[in-house]
Amino acid sequence: MTLTVHEVNDLKQAPAVEGVLPVFHKRWSARAFQQRSIREADLQKLFEAARWAPSAFNEQPWRFIVGAAGTETHRRIAAALAGFNQAWAPKAPVLILGVAKTTFSHNNAPNAYALYDLGAATASIVLQAAALGMTTHQMAGFDHEGAREAFGIPSDYAMGVVTALGYQGEVASLGEQRLIAQETSPRSRKPLGEIVFSAWNEPAALA
Ligand SMILES: Cc1cc2nc3c(=O)[nH]c(=O)nc-3n(C[C@H](O)[C@H](O)[C@H](O)COP(=O)(O)O)c2cc1C
Repeated sequence: MTLTVHEVNDLKQAPAVEGVLPVFHKRWSARAFQQRSIREADLQKLFEAARWAPSAFNEQPWRFIVGAAGTETHRRIAAALAGFNQAWAPKAPVLILGVAKTTFSHNNAPNAYALYDLGAATASIVLQAAALGMTTHQMAGFDHEGAREAFGIPSDYAMGVVTALGYQGEVASLGEQRLIAQETSPRSRKPLGEIVFSAWNEPAALA
């Protein structure tokens, strides 16, 4: 039996915890997208959220290359995707390639936190997207050097992820059984006791 978009969404949601912003539990990484475009005003909101992310020395090392379906930018990002992502991600109405400048602008010294900061900005994008009812799916699986070449990205920029963005679609649109199974399997996380400590290997009291 095929699950509806709502049923899949219910299955994927993390259980709510009082006092935690609902968007953290609402967000999950879908692979099935509706063929519905994203309004430019909504895209702007996502990047506005990213713009205010914190970064080392306030360097704001991130750059995002954004392509809507049907554009040359979208085609080039999609072409760089690895096979296992090629199977579904090119159908996303928007693909975003995130890169980070690995040297500081004020002194040209290496910025070891560039990708960390790009991750923080990307987290803002995915959470803002969830708050607006959209879904996102980040991917490390793409040809980094191919994408660099396709867009002429200088060597002092590190590759982050490609993020697929859109509205959650029908599971059946994925076609492949393997993808359908992934899309309808429950999500899991480590308990707090495995990630929060008061000393090395000593779970914190809050866990
Ligand atoms: C840095 C990073 C790289 C990822 N790369 C891929 C990828 O190449 N292909 C894919 O299908 N999912 C990819 N994912 C998605 C993760 O598998 C997913 O976030 C994780 O399983 C947790 O699921 P959730 O986002 O639904 O909570 C990536 C996520 C991150 C943050």
